[in-house]
Amino acid sequence: MSQDVLNVTDSRTNQTYSLPIENGTIRAMDLRQIKTGSDDFGLMTYDPAFMNTASCRSSITFIDGDRGILQYRGNPIEVLAEHCSFLEVAYLLLFGDLPTQHELAEWVGEITHHTMLHETTKRFMENFRYNAHPMGMLVSTLAAMSTIYPEARNIHDAPNRLLQIKRLIAKIPSIAAMSYRHSLGFPYVYPDNDLSYAENFMNMLWKMVEPKYVANPVMARALDILFILHADHEQNCSANVMRSAGSSHADPYLSAAAAAAALSGPLHGGANEEVLKMLDEIGSKEAVPAYVKRVKEGHGKLMGFGHRVYKNYDPRAKIIKWTAERVFEVTGRNPKLDTALELERIALEDEYFIKRKLYPNVDFYSGIIYQAMGFKPEMFTVLFAIPRMAGWLAQWQEMLTDDEQKISRPRQIWTGHATREFIPLAKRGPLATTPR
Ligand code: CMC
Repeated sequence: MSQDVLNVTDSRTNQTYSLPIENGTIRAMDLRQIKTGSDDFGLMTYDPAFMNTASCRSSITFIDGDRGILQYRGNPIEVLAEHCSFLEVAYLLLFGDLPTQHELAEWVGEITHHTMLHETTKRFMENFRYNAHPMGMLVSTLAAMSTIYPEARNIHDAPNRLLQIKRLIAKIPSIAAMSYRHSLGFPYVYPDNDLSYAENFMNMLWKMVEPKYVANPVMARALDILFILHADHEQNCSANVMRSAGSSHADPYLSAAAAAAALSGPLHGGANEEVLKMLDEIGSKEAVPAYVKRVKEGHGKLMGFGHRVYKNYDPRAKIIKWTAERVFEVTGRNPKLDTALELERIALEDEYFIKRKLYPNVDFYSGIIYQAMGFKPEMFTVLFAIPRMAGWLAQWQEMLTDDEQKISRPRQIWTGHATREFIPLAKRGPLATTPR
């Protein structure tokens, strides 16, 4: 069978090259043969922000951004959100298939078994300043866990890897809850192994003096659905950091800390916090048209809108909108929802947003639910990080077991000086340009 090829003629040499096309891609390394002479390094691609570069082969998460499709291991997100628990979905991401009843019971048992934090981790967290941002606490504590489990460095041993994966998935809600209690000045609550993953998280967040925490089932299910929706999203910024840091064979705690740091930014997982600030700034439904006008004039962005991959309605945002209605039946309607709905309506009818294919993304409605549940905006990104841990670890493991992967190390186009003559300190004049 003949292979598809891309024929390229180099106008500098008039030479033609045939580059194999596989899976709609050419290999960047195939360009290296395109040279003007023996001392030429060869052609490279220039792709700041990875706009059109596949960095790996992956079978974890599939997104069709034009059609608004998201699937984990071939399962549509809508089906998973309706029928599965978060831990079932975490299993799917990590092991490739949905678990049997027996496998699920074992998996849930093992995760539950690892929810406790080492007392030194607790003491470490107690020393954060009273007003520390919960994401800063999460990132630092994930990194600090590397000191508690030094065997995690043995990343080539599959059973050892799995043990660290279980620990990270089990302990991230405990760290998140402690960061929340810390910012409120409340004592930390230990995990309760009788409860489900989401219920136990709620227990560690909100238990006060009652002997046993009983979670509201609607709220627990809503949280579990939110966890499912946020579990993975293929090669997003933080997954790419997880893979990149992990490619140096750093241990999974340090790699996950790096990924969580990437998630914290307002263009990524930090957007949900920014959406709430934006809705506060807009103030009311009536003020929406003026705000949209300002954005169109170049003053800021509509937070929670737009996506590098989705050029259609983010399927997660649809499910979150539905979940919000269920939550509001318990908590009462968050008045910001009216402003958000009006913002969405106006933006989706506006030429500026239509032309650029800017639709609400996952962060647009999630913050409104989180706020109705009683979380402060500073916690929103932490709530994103808890389930995303499963995705980061699935991506990390796939990277480590992929024979084609090596240490991540992009190239650059050199824009600096050619070799310069050294000027002794005493002879240097004032800078001709403003210091950079
Ligand atoms: N509001 C107004 N204009 C926007 C927005 C927005 N939210 N997003 C993009 N644009 C404009 C942008 O100014 C540009 O216009 P022009 O062509 O005139 O220069 C055009 O749309 C293309 O945008 P871009 O910045 O080139 O797109 P990108 O793929 O680099 O950025 C993004 C994607 C998500 C960073 C961006 O849409 C954004 O900053 N959105 C707001 C932050 C946000 O909601 N982030 C959460 C993303 S979803 C959760 C996650 O995966 O982390």
